[in-house]
Amino acid sequence: MKVDVLLGLQWGDEGKGKVVDVLTPQYDAVARFQGGPNAGHTLEFKGEKYVLRSIPSGIFQGGKVNIIGNGVVLDPVLFKEEAEALAASGHDITKQLYISKKAHLILPTHRILDAAYEAAKGAGKIGTTGKGIGPTYTDKVSRNGVRVGDLLRDFDSIYKAAKQRHESILKSLNYTYDITELESKWFEALEYLKQFKLIDSEHVINHLLKEGKNVLAEGAQGTMLDVDFGSYPFVTSSNTICAGCCTGLGVAPRNIGEVYGIFKAYCTRVGSGPFPTELFDETGDKIGQLGHEFGAVTGRKRRCGWIDLVALRYAVMLNGVTQLIMMKSDVLDSFETIKACVAYKINGEEVTDFPYSIEGEVEPIYVELPGWQTDMTKMKSEDEFPEEFNAYLSFLEEELGVPIKIVSVGPDREQTIVRYTEE
Ligand code: GDP
Ligand code: IMO
Ligand code: MG
Repeated sequence: MKVDVLLGLQWGDEGKGKVVDVLTPQYDAVARFQGGPNAGHTLEFKGEKYVLRSIPSGIFQGGKVNIIGNGVVLDPVLFKEEAEALAASGHDITKQLYISKKAHLILPTHRILDAAYEAAKGAGKIGTTGKGIGPTYTDKVSRNGVRVGDLLRDFDSIYKAAKQRHESILKSLNYTYDITELESKWFEALEYLKQFKLIDSEHVINHLLKEGKNVLAEGAQGTMLDVDFGSYPFVTSSNTICAGCCTGLGVAPRNIGEVYGIFKAYCTRVGSGPFPTELFDETGDKIGQLGHEFGAVTGRKRRCGWIDLVALRYAVMLNGVTQLIMMKSDVLDSFETIKACVAYKINGEEVTDFPYSIEGEVEPIYVELPGWQTDMTKMKSEDEFPEEFNAYLSFLEEELGVPIKIVSVGPDREQTIVRYTEE
């Protein structure tokens, strides 16, 4: 069997959590392959709403194996909070959740470093989630990281060496901080972490495949936040694209199956950085209000704009997307006209291939389509789709060269429409 991958094609928050939950019944295992608690994946069902940060979104569909892979960075304190909140709502996950020994730990000083680096950047700050993501991945790549598996070794000396190194950096930045409370919570959370199965996840996943089991890999963030291909330096610190699944789980490229690319019917971005189709007018405000565009974890207001097909075509190419999933269609239900950016104008030239940089003067060139002006939130089948909506889908499929197989018309698990497949 192969690993199917679900990942974001825009700047994150496309609705990955919801769709992973919807698809999980078809799978035996769900695995996160990168990112950490910078993610906020929202699921809604039976009138309840849950936000997951590090725990895979397959956790609610009983009896499935859920794996936090080696490519993930894990904060024990936030993990404990997340797991305890689930337990309090009747979801005991200790038996279903496995954690890779090769996943790197986010230390208290990583979080402080994240804040210190952002402060040092001043107006040029990235607008990170403040969860220590960048400093933790930096330590991983510079071979100074602390891994989950170190808990089973001489942990104290490994931790102390890392902490000392961080403290000298913080001193050089003249950054004042108090680590006492954070550190004691962190050690308490490490003890909590030890009750979970700490595994060599690359072996577990490859064994599952050999036994004919289906595995779904869950991406975090989105392609435009990828450290290599996103709007650098305003990106996260991991490879969010499909290739990140190979390194983040130990899956060979030839063992990747379907690649589900997920996008919103419009576009959002949170934090700093260029966003060519961003709207600064009442249309942008309207999208934000109707789409409740506030960060799932940080509560930050998300910037809103029209769909960007230059960026989406790039994302489809980088990921080898085989099926598209369109989210939040209902947010555009009341719009008379919908715009889609098909090219950029840069220095008077029309650009259709995503360029090296989108900073500075990038003018989006739009195509206008008629809105469907119909409430789609209660629709159950594509037979009910208004003509204008079908035209929007066909237009996007034509532009992106990949079929849209699933359409989401609301936040609930049930508000998901799988389209007919042509054989
Ligand atoms: P993720 O990070 O990709 O999992 O996405 P988030 O959870 O951060 O953000 C998606 C938000 O949109 C969440 O609040 C979801 O509950 C909500 N959502 C998901 N699908 C839909 C949809 O089709 N329509 C509407 N209105 N909301 C949706
Ligand atoms: P999910 O998985 C949206 C953004 C931050 C910031 C940049 C770097 O919910 O889609 P980091 O803390 O990673 O160093 O921040 O990336 N960012 C996200 N934006 N959704 C996310 O995750 C994000 N994770 C990070 O806002 O601009
Ligand atoms: Mg999110």
